[in-house]
Amino acid sequence: MWDVPLFPEQASTTAARVDALYFALLGMSFFFIALIYGLLLFFGIKYRRGSKADRSNRVSTSHTIEALWIGIPLVLSIFFFVWASRVYFELYNVPRDAAEVFVVGKQWMWYLQHPEGKRETNELHVPLGRPVKLTLTSQDVIHSFYVPAFRMKQDALPGRYTTTWFQPTKTGRFHLYCAEYCGTNHSVMGGWVVVMEPADYERWLSRGSTGESMATAGAKLFQQYHCSGCHGDNPTVRAPRLEGVFGGPVPVQEGKSTRMVVADDRYLRDSILMPQSQVVAGYDPVMPSYEGQISEPDLLQIIAYIKSLGRNGGDQP
Ligand code: CUA
Repeated sequence: MWDVPLFPEQASTTAARVDALYFALLGMSFFFIALIYGLLLFFGIKYRRGSKADRSNRVSTSHTIEALWIGIPLVLSIFFFVWASRVYFELYNVPRDAAEVFVVGKQWMWYLQHPEGKRETNELHVPLGRPVKLTLTSQDVIHSFYVPAFRMKQDALPGRYTTTWFQPTKTGRFHLYCAEYCGTNHSVMGGWVVVMEPADYERWLSRGSTGESMATAGAKLFQQYHCSGCHGDNPTVRAPRLEGVFGGPVPVQEGKSTRMVVADDRYLRDSILMPQSQVVAGYDPVMPSYEGQISEPDLLQIIAYIKSLGRNGGDQP
């Protein structure tokens, strides 16, 4: 065969499904292009100047043809809509048992951290055969985390967490890119995703690790940034306790009424950076904002610590 890499290899559970849809759309486009240009050519020849074709131009109406040119595209569009939606939902529903990795994009590198504490730059090591959930954010402008072999692309936005996932199906090294123009060195912002056998991965994870998990590091930062002064034992002001907050509904004061919000990553993040935007009912809005004082990686570790304090509903993470 020719050695022209038109398509990246398929290395995730969703890659083949994305490709199948892509080729079906491509095939349909080719069919209609061939049909339209075929007819164009056919009529061009049939009615060329000097031919003996019938040019009486009589008017004819056919309800069958009208029904067909409405019906066929309708059925085709609905068919592709349903098919594509199913792939879309699969791509956006993160499996519950996924391993987590936190990603921070910044000009011009990818910074990654595993919950066990291990940090990486421009390289992501993951085990084979297990779904991996990525939580992404950016320290400056919009970046986009793109691994063609996994058919996976997700923007990393400043001030927000986005999530995506993939499950690798082969071991090896796969190119990682930034797929959003983010400044001078955008083109060199990238690296590799290394998929390893689970045993090799465990070995890699323990090698050269400080042994400090994100939650443990977050607990230290919780002291360092004086969060514990109000949210810890012996508080100086009355502030909500954070044990068991994550994952559950929290009553937030809005004017005279309260609204229930789910305490997810976004809620915790906004509560630290914009505490006045969502004050827990029954408490005074006295918390200062930490906007611009905590780096994105530190913020992720503090959130990991708050999550480690238990989930609403009792089950430990
Ligand atoms: Cu980061 Cu382009």
